[in-house]
Amino acid sequence: MLFDFKLVETTHSKILTFETINPHIKKVEYAVRGELAIRAEEIKEEIAKNGPGKFGFETVVNCNIGNPQQLFQRSITFFRQVACLTEYPDLLLPENRNNVNTLFPLDAIERAQLLLKQIGSVGAYSHSQGIPYIRRNVAKFIEERDGYPSNPDNIFLTQGASVGVQSVLQLIIAHSNVGIMIPIPQYPLYSATLSLFDAKPVPYYLDEDENWSLDITQLTSSLATARDKGLDVRALVIINPGNPTGQCLTEQNMREIIDFCHQQHLVLLADEVYQTNIYQPAERPFHSFKKGMIGECGRRGGYYECTGIDKQVIDQLYKIASIGLCPNVSGQIMVDLMVRPPKRGDKSHPLYQKEINRIYESLRRRSLKLSSVFNSMEGVSCKDAQGSMYLFPRINLPPKAIKVAREVGKQPDEFYCLAMLNATGVCVVPGSGFHQEDGTWHFRSTFLPPEELFDGFCQRLEKFHKEFLAKYRD
Ligand SMILES: Cc1ncc(COP(=O)(O)O)c(C=O)c1O
Repeated sequence: MLFDFKLVETTHSKILTFETINPHIKKVEYAVRGELAIRAEEIKEEIAKNGPGKFGFETVVNCNIGNPQQLFQRSITFFRQVACLTEYPDLLLPENRNNVNTLFPLDAIERAQLLLKQIGSVGAYSHSQGIPYIRRNVAKFIEERDGYPSNPDNIFLTQGASVGVQSVLQLIIAHSNVGIMIPIPQYPLYSATLSLFDAKPVPYYLDEDENWSLDITQLTSSLATARDKGLDVRALVIINPGNPTGQCLTEQNMREIIDFCHQQHLVLLADEVYQTNIYQPAERPFHSFKKGMIGECGRRGGYYECTGIDKQVIDQLYKIASIGLCPNVSGQIMVDLMVRPPKRGDKSHPLYQKEINRIYESLRRRSLKLSSVFNSMEGVSCKDAQGSMYLFPRINLPPKAIKVAREVGKQPDEFYCLAMLNATGVCVVPGSGFHQEDGTWHFRSTFLPPEELFDGFCQRLEKFHKEFLAKYRD
């Protein structure tokens, strides 16, 4: 619903002050949208108001967040055609059909009609767990992908993977001594949600020298240390392909992880939002359409599947979902399109396939280009992205830069990234926002800037890096 809601205080001594609000919220850190992103917005506003004059660059490039359409990635035509017809069903009335038939392919029209028959209106609340028809389609998609039965009653459609992760963690975290195993480096959704619900992160480290791989002995020792401290460790988070690290697990490794969870009595949370962004080798339960080649981040949609979870527990997840009434219906439609794109033989299939391939190949080229640029910079080393949308280069910062950073109260990688933003307009996220091994410094950058601007973008970074080193070299 579109709402108007007010937060009002009338008492003299305020109930809500920074000191009195929920302390767990104050502990939350979310670097992807942190200080760098705020500064980037300020620069954008200044350029819009006064022109680029004082900056020496004309645009801010947001490489701090995997948001493909913000950086001009085109949407998938079939998806937008169906979205358009479901949003404005009057287009499907007989008096409009002649025009519509010339603008939209028949399979898009038929899909919109089918969805509207199931949904009614896009403007109506739906089932809190998600539209049953779409959940059945998700279950079929999973069955075909994995070769195992999937039950639509165990699938929740959500407003993106983030909401799914938050609901599940909220359910698992029964008290403040609960520990949740998370990778380091990690995507800050996890550390932020653990802070919010007052649980304890149990870090396990990915091995940068081995392409950010996950070693089971790391999991075992990290779990043992946490349990020795008395933590009630209940779940293991895996991000595959990785964010921020871009690595992909081997099948053997995935099997070991499942065995590990089974033996150690842990719930496995498998975050696979980048499951279609796999570049090495070039092949193709949280899944959301913001990622992949679809890139519709702003629409907020996705699903999670529960496997081996008791019905009584799923009922409680349903209760959490019902507090939010329902995921937005336009997002649910996108999930349907994600799991049932045009098939071979459909009118829209050739264009769909062409668009997907174009985006995929371009992402792969850009990832390789950017990692080679990073690797050519003095004191920087960067693993190629096997998947996802990110590179996580390691930077060897000169002691003088580290000293100056400390003097101004910043983490050294944050200091470097701020200098990069101010000098180039390129906004990345410091490695400290994802946590990293002590004494190492990194930053995360997407490789999403459009290909036609890529060379200029890389040159800006190279020039900045040289000047930064020259300034802080001892
Ligand atoms: C690993 C990972 N999980 C979850 C999310 C959240 O995705 P969504 O936009 O579907 O909430 C992201 C977004 O960047 C991500 O990188």
